[in-house]
Amino acid sequence: MSIENMIEAAFDIAECAYAPYSKFKVGACIKTANGKLYTGCNVENASYGLSTCAEASAVIEMLCHKEQAIAKIVIVGLDCDDYISPCGACRQRIREFAPLDTPIHMAKSTTDYITHTLEALLPLSFGPQFLENK
Ligand code: THU
Repeated sequence: MSIENMIEAAFDIAECAYAPYSKFKVGACIKTANGKLYTGCNVENASYGLSTCAEASAVIEMLCHKEQAIAKIVIVGLDCDDYISPCGACRQRIREFAPLDTPIHMAKSTTDYITHTLEALLPLSFGPQFLENK
């Protein structure tokens, strides 16, 4: 499954976003180590702080299918001229289920995307390894 397929899946799920307040619809697509794709969109709330990011939705979707190993992730925004970079909290959410060399692809279209590793976006991160022997 190519990056292009993942970007298409992310744009498709972004259409499902519930973003009446920001009008900023985001889609995310995770590919797991098993090669499966899981997608998610942002879901806002009138109590703004309860809003959920697209990446968080995709992580939950992955877990609900008994998968826990992120191999790569794509993030897109609808009607947006920028590469969507995951927020700090979502970088940490991804960190829970992904090795530091995991590529994070930020796409404007199926052919226009940039890629950075999780480690580049979240240096010196705190992760599950600190708690392994507790
Ligand atoms: N958003 C995401 O879903 N993912 C990101 O990485 C950045 C921001 C959402 C949250 C909120 O619903 C809207 O975009 C505006 O911040």
